[in-house]
Amino acid sequence: MRRDSEFQSYRVVLIATDIHKTFDSGNSGKEVLDGVSLAVSPGDFVMITGTSGAGKSTLLHILCGLDQPTSGEVFFDGNPYSTLSAGESSRLRGECFGFVFQTPHLLMDRTVFENVTLPFCYGPKITKSEIGRRCMDILEYVGLGKDGGRYPATLSGGELQRVVFARALVREPRVIFADEPTGSLDRKNSLNMLDLLKKKSEQGCAVVMVTHDHSLKSYGTRFLSLDKR
Ligand SMILES: Nc1ncnc2c1ncn2[C@@H]1O[C@H](COP(=O)(O)OP(=O)(O)OP(=O)(O)O)[C@@H](O)[C@H]1O
Ligand SMILES: [Mg+2]
Repeated sequence: MRRDSEFQSYRVVLIATDIHKTFDSGNSGKEVLDGVSLAVSPGDFVMITGTSGAGKSTLLHILCGLDQPTSGEVFFDGNPYSTLSAGESSRLRGECFGFVFQTPHLLMDRTVFENVTLPFCYGPKITKSEIGRRCMDILEYVGLGKDGGRYPATLSGGELQRVVFARALVREPRVIFADEPTGSLDRKNSLNMLDLLKKKSEQGCAVVMVTHDHSLKSYGTRFLSLDKR
């Protein structure tokens, strides 16, 4: 499909309408999200802030279809999540989304390089050499160009997180969801990763990021603050 960047920059890609979430257990039926609405366009860098327990991660999981709202709806390209089968929902995440969550979910029996190639299992097929080139480029960028053959168990927390960044961005997702992505990184690497996310958003990707770090706010173009209820 042809992607006209000028047209895309005016097009809303992700819409959440009146999202409510109540957990049955553990929270005595307390409502965590109380009518959150949000529209995200290509090029937006949405920063979600709020106190611990305010529902930031819950909202992010609902926005990417990993959790369902108690009421309300999320649309991607105009299609409501509630009409997607489990398979369609996971295909959407594989083809269109990139994830950087705080706890790195890497395959421990695969090398760093193999982990970064995983997003190419989805979507249009490209050649092995092109996959290799893209993976090496992004590993170089995150400072792990020489570490492709290592296994996750041998990496530090910050190195693991940089592998997660590389994997999230390698296949040019349309939306990147990041939950406290810089928690285990030092200042230099945090800013390096944020610069990369910013560059991707300027190229038309939408970024939705949860952070506690107010010094990173300058990277955002849109802001959503959640209050603990
Ligand atoms: N599966 C669950 N079952 C019951 N309660 C839950 C569940 N998941 C989250 N909660 C509760 O919902 C509230 C919001 O959780 P959430 O993880 O979204 O907060 P958060 O804003 O991301 O906090 P933090 O900044 O500490 O990561 C918390 O009170 C949490 O205990
Ligand atoms: Mg959280």
